[in-house]
Amino acid sequence: MLQEAEKIKQDALRELESIANIRELEAWRVRYLGRRGKLTEILRGLGKLPPEERKVVGAPVNVAKNDLAEWFRQKEQALYEMQLVAAAKKEAIDVTLPGRPIPAGRLHPITQTLHEICDIFIAMGFQVVEGPEVEWDYYNFEALNIPEEHPARDTMATLWVDFKTDSGESPMLLRTHTTSVSARVIETMQPPIRVVEPGKVYRYEASDATHTPMFHQIDGQVVDEGITMADLKGTLYEFARRFFGEDRKVRFRCDYFPFVEPGVEMAIECSVCGGKGCRLCGNTGWIEILGAGMTHPRVLQRGGIDPEVYTGFAFGMGIDRMPMLRYGIDDIRLFYSSDLRFLRQF
Ligand code: DAH
Repeated sequence: MLQEAEKIKQDALRELESIANIRELEAWRVRYLGRRGKLTEILRGLGKLPPEERKVVGAPVNVAKNDLAEWFRQKEQALYEMQLVAAAKKEAIDVTLPGRPIPAGRLHPITQTLHEICDIFIAMGFQVVEGPEVEWDYYNFEALNIPEEHPARDTMATLWVDFKTDSGESPMLLRTHTTSVSARVIETMQPPIRVVEPGKVYRYEASDATHTPMFHQIDGQVVDEGITMADLKGTLYEFARRFFGEDRKVRFRCDYFPFVEPGVEMAIECSVCGGKGCRLCGNTGWIEILGAGMTHPRVLQRGGIDPEVYTGFAFGMGIDRMPMLRYGIDDIRLFYSSDLRFLRQF
């Protein structure tokens, strides 16, 4: 029995050396170590021997079995490594293959619109300036002729920043309009001033199809000697033509904003019904797109500009509505839901 086991071991080792793939190796394992394998057979035969002989024969046969199992493990490892090397060789770069396109990002539709509006004003000689989103009450309200008890404050549900001064006041907020940047510009720049001020603004509002607590605005500000309402109308008229198209009608009407006098609102002819009246324009044929006016003398004076020498006009509009009007998008939340199926269209 011992001799037989030794011979099986020798055979197994010889065969193992010529094995070149996993399938052959598995067949070898079944042949020698499997349930009906040659060594297993001998081990099973041990039971028939008398107990003293069982020990003498059993131990070396078991050693042989363990040796075979260990060789199997080593060979298996070696074959896997060979396979990996072969696969890596096969995967070597094929320089004749066409390149894979690198996915390109793009600007958000709101950013695109913002750039487009800025470009129109830059072409008219304006300069782009930005201001902080966390703003002082002073620039958002006070400097714009909206004192503490002014009802205009109620129209802008303000998000106040949780910061108190030593005297218990909370003078910081998330700016409710980009007009706050106009207040800063008047204080820091000297006429002639021609600037546009784009950016994010915030109001305490629940989201629905036409509202989000964060949205975008662009304000503009012109201050120089001899600026009149004609400059205001001419500039905004030109903007509307360039942005909405040559033959789009524009309407100016009186409106009130504390930081201008007189104040106006500008509307464009509805793009959906062409002025006849529809759901989008609330049956009026017009869509209001911006507020504007002649800068209030008190606002100029506060910023250190002499209103007896200089006059100015200002305007402010929401950005988010522009692509909505242009592409017929009926829910503003689509812009902020990060859904690439929507955003990739622009
Ligand atoms: N800030 C105003 C708003 O958010 C819009 C506005 C109106 C801005 C008139 C102006 C302006 O600069 O002159 O409703």
